[in-house]
Amino acid sequence: MKSIAIINQKGMVGESATAINIGAGPVLKGYKVLYVDLDLQGNLAYTIGANTDGCLEGTKKS
Ligand SMILES: Nc1ncnc2c1ncn2[C@@H]1O[C@H](COP(=O)(O)OP(=O)(O)O)[C@@H](O)[C@H]1O
Ligand SMILES: [Mg+2]
Repeated sequence: MKSIAIINQKGMVGESATAINIGAGPVLKGYKVLYVDLDLQGNLAYTIGANTDGCLEGTKKS
């Protein structure tokens, strides 16, 4: 298993977009990709259309 961390102190610089696009390559090749978004806004989960039912309050977009 490979792990890739995309980290930056400042937000809104494209971390989530970068993660989504890096993960898309292996997905298209048939690999399973686990995204872990530590930003409570949950934009990554929202963008990839993940089911956020059952997530902690404040971690899902309404
Ligand atoms: N390559 C890009 N071209 C244009 N806009 C982008 C690009 N990557 C990200 N954005 C926009 O920049 C904003 C921040 O991107 P995001 O990936 O959510 O950043 P972060 O995760 O660092 O907060 C979003 O509005 C997103 O749509
Ligand atoms: Mg983000």
